[in-house]
Amino acid sequence: MSKNEHLQACRRRKPRFDCLGKHKMLFNPEIVTFKHKIMNSLEQLKTHTKVVADTGDFQLIKEFSPLDSTTNPTLIYKAVQQEKYEHLLEQAIAENENCGLQIGQGLVDKIIDSLLVLFGCEILKHVPGRVSTEVAANLSFDTEATVAKARSIIAMYEAKGISRDRVLIKIASTWEGIQAGRILEKEGIHVNMTLLFSLAQAVACAEAGATLISPFVGRILDWYKAKAGHDFKGADDPGVQSVTMIYNYYKKFGYKTEVMGASFRNTSEIVELAGCDLLTISPNLLADLAKSNEPVVRKLSPQSAAHEGIQRLDVSEKSFRWHLNEDAMATEKLADGIRSFNADTTKLANMIEKELLA
Ligand code: E4P
Repeated sequence: MSKNEHLQACRRRKPRFDCLGKHKMLFNPEIVTFKHKIMNSLEQLKTHTKVVADTGDFQLIKEFSPLDSTTNPTLIYKAVQQEKYEHLLEQAIAENENCGLQIGQGLVDKIIDSLLVLFGCEILKHVPGRVSTEVAANLSFDTEATVAKARSIIAMYEAKGISRDRVLIKIASTWEGIQAGRILEKEGIHVNMTLLFSLAQAVACAEAGATLISPFVGRILDWYKAKAGHDFKGADDPGVQSVTMIYNYYKKFGYKTEVMGASFRNTSEIVELAGCDLLTISPNLLADLAKSNEPVVRKLSPQSAAHEGIQRLDVSEKSFRWHLNEDAMATEKLADGIRSFNADTTKLANMIEKELLA
């Protein structure tokens, strides 16, 4: 090879920077490498998107090095049943021993809040960024109670030396929840608006100044699969389409609220959303991505969103309620999500009550 040919070959192989400017990688359609090491699908995804771990089982997340972590009432209930986390429940009970409350007077709720914060503090030892802690689902239609609960959770974190910037208070994206988010953001308490299944919810959250939204993918797929009686794959997955539409809307109209796709059923849903601001992924799907060498190509970007012909949506209260009611999937999934998170919190409360009476 002549010197000239060699130089040209080197130029062709020049490491590229991805749009986040994070990693240099040599791109070839078959295999993606980082400094000549083959990148697995998880490593490739991380060059396009901030990867978040979706679990209360914090011992599982170390090997995946996520930036943030998310929890919900179901995940915490699942984690606390494991022997390895029994000590956190004991600690939460001990912290409230002298609070002056009895069972039936709010003691169990206080213990649950302590438990959520203890899990959050443990999780924060394993991630450099933020933890999402969800407020009780039975507050989903009560703005004032949600604000009070969020303030109290943040005060508990701060008492343990965790600054509010490392916590996202997760709130259901009902009209009342979104108004709570608006109030909290003005106080520097950051929110993660969850149980989000529609553009109307997403636009209302952005206009309320939410730091982050969690549009669900898998639960949307579940609904359409059950209705249609068949599966949907890749870009045809209605959950993927919903998050793509929300992401494009935000980028096109310049909203700052971060979009974090959540609730995944398989890795192809995740790969289809590469480029989304963040994706929160369960440990088993993180493991599947880490085991795979399939190329992960960026699908979402502010540049491509700019070319989308999207109309602005009015989300005054009446219009929000109208759009949500018109969307049977979003209406049913929001209601069902609140019911099932509340059911798991009730199970946790019963478990704590049993422990207190033992
Ligand atoms: C995270 O923010 C969500 O609560 C979670 O991804 C929901 O996942 P699921 O639909 O699998 O319960």
